[in-house]
Amino acid sequence: MPGYNGNVQPDSASPIILAENLTKTYQAGKVLVTAVRGLSMSVEPGEFVAIVGPSGSGKSTLFYLLGGLTRATSGRVVIDGIDFATLDDGARTKLRRHRIAFVFQKFNLLPTLSAMGNIEIAYTVSGRASGPNGTPMDLKYLDHLSEILSIQGRLVHRPAELSGGEQQRVAIARALITRPAIVLADEPTGNLDTRNSDAVLNMLLRSNRELGQTTLMITHNPEAAAIAGRILYMRDGEIVREEKGSRANEVLPPAGAAV
Ligand SMILES: Nc1ncnc2c1ncn2[C@@H]1O[C@H](COP(=O)(O)OP(=O)(O)OP(=O)(O)O)[C@@H](O)[C@H]1O
Ligand SMILES: [Mg+2]
Repeated sequence: MPGYNGNVQPDSASPIILAENLTKTYQAGKVLVTAVRGLSMSVEPGEFVAIVGPSGSGKSTLFYLLGGLTRATSGRVVIDGIDFATLDDGARTKLRRHRIAFVFQKFNLLPTLSAMGNIEIAYTVSGRASGPNGTPMDLKYLDHLSEILSIQGRLVHRPAELSGGEQQRVAIARALITRPAIVLADEPTGNLDTRNSDAVLNMLLRSNRELGQTTLMITHNPEAAAIAGRILYMRDGEIVREEKGSRANEVLPPAGAAV
């Protein structure tokens, strides 16, 4: 019975994300919509990849597939050498929770919990706190994240008491607190002004470079995309073009400063 024990180490010689001939067709009533169409891609450990494309081109759907939130209609997704299709639902969920963090297009914060509560529950759900090797949430690291994201004074508040930008920054802290191997960020700067979006990009770049987190970011913003090592252009469910980010080698400003 194939399973995932949570201790698989990435093989640095192989891609951390591999998608082969991925297709996802949604059925909406009698209408079939093919959101992702025979797409293949691979991402090496530690890469920062931006994905851009028009609305409806299948970017979010691609993330749901790569993150194991939805099953492909055909084709396969291999994470760290493990083919999602060989896992049962429980093992797939475990793999996802242990290694992948999402920043959703809509923040998906739980409305009844404070910002801190949202971050804590994400840490608990990731499984890092439980078991014999469990470690409690690193409050120093949370301080560091909160400082860079400027949410330090806001953690006691519920999402409804936070601005859109603050909610998004809490969602980034929630994603990064588990130090995931892979971060999938869907329009993380979509609702933010320049200053807030710089803070978010700074944080994502920092965790990519300093912690080696493999980061995939969907964005409509060409300036944001330019910080990625690679930019993939999607159209009609396919990757139609690829280029290097023009700002990928920029030196990072100090923590807390804008990008
Ligand atoms: N659950 C669903 N049921 C039916 N169709 C869907 C569903 N989710 C997405 N689609 C369709 O699949 C296509 C791709 O949607 P997707 O959300 O992946 O696009 P996107 O590139 O993320 O767009 P945006 O930039 O607007 O977020 C669209 O035509 C969308 O209407
Ligand atoms: Mg989308």
